Amino acid sequence: MQELTTKDKQETYKKLLEAAVKAAEQSYSPYSKFPVGAALLAKDGRIFTGCNIECSTWDGTTCAERTALVKAVSEGYREFVAVAVVCKKLKDCWPCGICRQFLAEFGLNLDVIVEGTDGTLSIMTLSELLPQAFGPHSLPR
Ligand code: THU
Repeated sequence: MQELTTKDKQETYKKLLEAAVKAAEQSYSPYSKFPVGAALLAKDGRIFTGCNIECSTWDGTTCAERTALVKAVSEGYREFVAVAVVCKKLKDCWPCGICRQFLAEFGLNLDVIVEGTDGTLSIMTLSELLPQAFGPHSLPR
């Protein structure tokens, strides 16, 4: 995917956010009743979506962002441009720490998009959300 102009970027990210809203409809969240959807944009323009999937043992729960990333990586994709996250019951809802770390595995230069409280898009990079990140670069080769 080429560099996006600001207008194109807004359009693309709006569509990504819409895909995340749709993905949240598949959420399996009988315990928290807190549906989340995510849409991950790969470098070539393909979008992978995911929802949170809860487990009666709690710790087996998978967040929406990690569902999307697992789907993408298992399909051979490792380079990403952006991820949009939508919590149906909360605006301005940013990825949890575990998801930030998991996303960081495939690059800190990722735009993270959420719906702001005023309906506009809020965008931060993963490196802003996970400063001084531990990552693949931290481990000796
Ligand atoms: N959740 C996500 O899907 N993504 C996040 O970044 C934060 C939390 C889910 C996990 C759980 O199913 C529900 O939201 C409540 O924590």
